[in-house]
Amino acid sequence: MKKWGFIFDLDGVIVDTARFHFLAWKKTAYELGHELTQAQNEKLKGVSRVDSLKKILEWAGIEISEERFNTFLEEKNKDYLEYVNKMTSDDILPGVFDFISKIRKQKYPVALGSASKNAPRILEKVGLMQMFDTIVDGNSVTKAKPDPEVFLVGAENLGVDPENCIVFEDSEAGIEAANKAGMTSIGLGDKEILGHADYVFNSFKEIDAYFIEQLEKI
Ligand code: BG6
Ligand code: MG
Repeated sequence: MKKWGFIFDLDGVIVDTARFHFLAWKKTAYELGHELTQAQNEKLKGVSRVDSLKKILEWAGIEISEERFNTFLEEKNKDYLEYVNKMTSDDILPGVFDFISKIRKQKYPVALGSASKNAPRILEKVGLMQMFDTIVDGNSVTKAKPDPEVFLVGAENLGVDPENCIVFEDSEAGIEAANKAGMTSIGLGDKEILGHADYVFNSFKEIDAYFIEQLEKI
């Protein structure tokens, strides 16, 4: 029987912060004279703050100075944190708490693998800090998703081989990173968008005990 390790993305998987990122980036894009679409926003999910702004500038078709670039990054994060600071445990996505509690009871190791530099603050706000054996986030890795670094460091910290890790992701970039790391990828969201994942579910409420039992048999 394999020793499985579980790695969770944060934004859009554990908490409903993907919509806050969208609102904040929409404002940035507007100030740059660009209307950010839902489809473009999908391309920003899982992507680091710096790379997200680079993409928006590309879509807007403009170049700005390094100084303005940094000011936009700061402004975006300030706007984003206004939403984050109002978060409570009510912002944990449906089924997540029960799912992580269940796997922890079964003694599986659990990691966070997020691109966000705000990850510790968010986990504190929603009261989930203690649920993770290791936290790998935008403060501890240098290469952004779709690079597999964040998940490979997570696996190493858990002491589990990459091929025995299961990654939960809501973004195309994150699924690509998990696949590159040689891990089992589970998409949460739309099958059309997350088609490269090994499995796709709408939410954790759909992932029942049977799914974990099947994994245990592999
Ligand atoms: C990812 C989000 O989890 O973190 C991205 O999906 C975000 O949208 C990235 O850009 C970086 O987050 P932060 O909080 O450091 O700006
Ligand atoms: Mg995400």
